[in-house]
Amino acid sequence: MSRVNPPGERVDRAPLLSGIDFGPFRMRIPAERYRSREYQDRERERLWMRVWQVAGRQEDIPDPGDWMEYRILDQSYVIVRGGDGEIRGFVNACRHRGNALCQGRGHATRLVCPYHRWSYRLDGRLLAVSKPDYDGPVEEFVGREKQELGLIRVPVDCFAGFVFLNPDPGAAPLSGFLGEAVELLAPYRVDEMVPHGLNVREAVACNWKVVLDAFQEGYHIQGVHPELVGAMDESLERYRFCGDHSVATAPFGTAKRRDSAEELVAAIRRLPETFPAVADALPGFDALLERHRGGDGVLALPSGVTPRLLLQQALRESWDAKGLDVDELTASQLSDNHFWMLFPNFFMTIHAGEATVILATPDPGGDPNRCFWHVMNLQWFPPHERKERRAELVEVAEGDHFSYFLALEQDFEQMARQQRGLQNHALEELTLSRQELRLAHFHAALDRWVQSDRRRGR
Ligand code: FES
Ligand SMILES: [Fe+2]
Repeated sequence: MSRVNPPGERVDRAPLLSGIDFGPFRMRIPAERYRSREYQDRERERLWMRVWQVAGRQEDIPDPGDWMEYRILDQSYVIVRGGDGEIRGFVNACRHRGNALCQGRGHATRLVCPYHRWSYRLDGRLLAVSKPDYDGPVEEFVGREKQELGLIRVPVDCFAGFVFLNPDPGAAPLSGFLGEAVELLAPYRVDEMVPHGLNVREAVACNWKVVLDAFQEGYHIQGVHPELVGAMDESLERYRFCGDHSVATAPFGTAKRRDSAEELVAAIRRLPETFPAVADALPGFDALLERHRGGDGVLALPSGVTPRLLLQQALRESWDAKGLDVDELTASQLSDNHFWMLFPNFFMTIHAGEATVILATPDPGGDPNRCFWHVMNLQWFPPHERKERRAELVEVAEGDHFSYFLALEQDFEQMARQQRGLQNHALEELTLSRQELRLAHFHAALDRWVQSDRRRGR
């Protein structure tokens, strides 16, 4: 049974576009922020060096001693699971002469610097200093107390199975930064999902914000994804802003653009192309439909019963059978895609049991016309299946291109094209339509970070 008043109801009741006051939103974006190195430098100092950001998944480092490197622009960190199971973050620099300790991912009982072989415990404390031909104490050899020379800590915390890192040692807790998003996302149990199918990181020839912009509006569907026109009714889109973050949703399988129940059924049947786990619910969905077909096979749904409602019932039964507790999700969260933007660079489309995540990070070399995207499908599996189902990360080599599903290919191509246009200095600003409201919200949040000199206590 569903809980009374699950948190998702707040999204169900969020305003439609027609009910939103556009007064506070600035519907223009300065073009310079997509192409200028000066702007990128300000972003580096005031945003990236202070903000909580996704650095990986918890299951990337499942066992004590597992570690992974995280890079943002020219900064490098190492995230280590300690002997006590706790995940800690460190600046990836040896306290001797600063050599980068770790590169990529690995497993170790201690972290050893390859330069002069100083070694560190998994909790960051200096373990030993190698000193050939010298028998005296460490303190005398290096002239400092050993306990002063541990790795430099940075805050890390986990939410929804993601490891978040904040380069700012004085950062306020992650939970405060995520705010209401924690409560709204918790019932999906994203922490119990693993990357499955798609898990790819590739360079894209555009600014990192071009990627995030593109996923925060459905307005480009008519231009870039003609095959998706009509899949969703944008006049039914709802928007909720949660601090710097936001969520939008529109009911899937609504009747405005389709006049027959059979057409709605056909649209639902196409869902597994983008959300494979829905396929498992389709036999149940068919069985429910069958009850409403006459001898001639014609579908006659009683009033109040829609294909969407039957899909929700089938999804609930299918996930229940697999062992995923969906009781805290609203009916809309079961079947409809909720489009989440976690500031600054995390986008996720989610419904019960599965999600697609897009992370965009600036080019490590600081080129504002280039970034990396990391595209990941996440899917829920029972605990014993997770390890074998988990898709390893594919890092696309320079000059190569991964072959994505159609809509992502279309987006990929479009993003580079938009960046080419944005590089023209004569273009001073971008103009937003009402349907691009979330871009206005995102860029307003970015402005607050980039224009603020003080350390942000959140
Ligand atoms: S720089 Fe690491 S041991 Fe010398
Ligand atoms: Fe798109």
